Amino acid sequence: MEDERFITPEPHEEDHREVSLRPKDLSHFVGQEKIRKNLSVFISAAKQRDESLEHLLLYGPPGLGKTTLANIVSLEMGVNIKTTSGPAIERPGDLAAILTNLEKGDVLFIDEIHRLNRSVEEVLYPAMEDYELDIVIGKGPSARSIRLNLERFTLIGATTRLGLLSAPFRDRFGLVERVEFYRPDELMHIVTRASGLLETEIETSASEKIALRSRGTPRIANRILKRVRDWAQVESDGVINDKVVDYSLKALGIDDLGLDEVDRHYLSTIIEKFRGGPVGLDTISASMAEASDSLEDVVEPYLLQLGFIDRTPRGRMATSSAYEHMKLPMPKRAADNSQETLFN
Ligand SMILES: Nc1ncnc2c1ncn2[C@@H]1O[C@H](COP(=O)(O)OP(=O)(O)O)[C@@H](O)[C@H]1O
Ligand SMILES: [Mg+2]
Repeated sequence: MEDERFITPEPHEEDHREVSLRPKDLSHFVGQEKIRKNLSVFISAAKQRDESLEHLLLYGPPGLGKTTLANIVSLEMGVNIKTTSGPAIERPGDLAAILTNLEKGDVLFIDEIHRLNRSVEEVLYPAMEDYELDIVIGKGPSARSIRLNLERFTLIGATTRLGLLSAPFRDRFGLVERVEFYRPDELMHIVTRASGLLETEIETSASEKIALRSRGTPRIANRILKRVRDWAQVESDGVINDKVVDYSLKALGIDDLGLDEVDRHYLSTIIEKFRGGPVGLDTISASMAEASDSLEDVVEPYLLQLGFIDRTPRGRMATSSAYEHMKLPMPKRAADNSQETLFN
């Protein structure tokens, strides 16, 4: 089940306990060079002109730093941030209440912005474009619409699913940035910095090991680090070394590439139940008894990145690397199929 899965990149409650590992300015934000460069230019320009920053849309898999970036932007701009999420804004009135409370230049951060409902989205359009809000007062024949002027604000939206945003909505963001998986050297940097913040000593090879097994995701790297730290405290002298990391990763069911039970179950389902595919996501989801949303948002992005699956018009297919990693023989037919996708 997703709830019990250790390496899910979605936040766990324990992620928020104790010291925050979240970097507070762009200079401590590791990786994502293109985004950092763009943001620092746009932030400086906006500050020089004493304007608010353009609306910003951040998209990509969970745990890669979208919320962190939104907070950094508000700190660097020297403004307040109001944080909410798509599902939390149920009615246009909820949004109106939030918008009318914003001060000049403030950031409104809407997480999971693809889950805003249409009627709320429509109120947002004129607010984003002209900083105006049309609200209807009263009901029936006496209802009338009034127009309110808003302070200039910056909307920052975050989503794991860019494709679920309508084109007109997307077009209203001046900046659209995709967060990428992190390289092992970047994750090593993040792990080393985090262990410093946690006041725990870590050997270089141990932080490399964690970096290689956290599926390109800082949130997972930090979570593994915290878990490993507990083991180090009890099993060794508090120093995190290779042995403790190996032991903890094994106990957590995380393999050499950072894949866990759910990832391997996903691959073995395609390979063993559907002969390597192609097979539709909904069929895989039903067969595994896992929600297709979480497969698509959480499991598939990293497997795609590893080149373990292909998404074809006829469905998902396991590649030869997936067979190899799962130590399963590749049938002749599947081999032919993956050849075919190479030329598509
Ligand atoms: N670039 C980074 N440098 C250092 N730590 C990071 C970075 N990106 C993310 N993190 C860490 O990972 C955690 C999850 O990041 P978050 O911004 O919540 O991801 P998202 O909103 O994309 O799901 C943060 O609390 C932070 O500790
Ligand atoms: Mg987030």
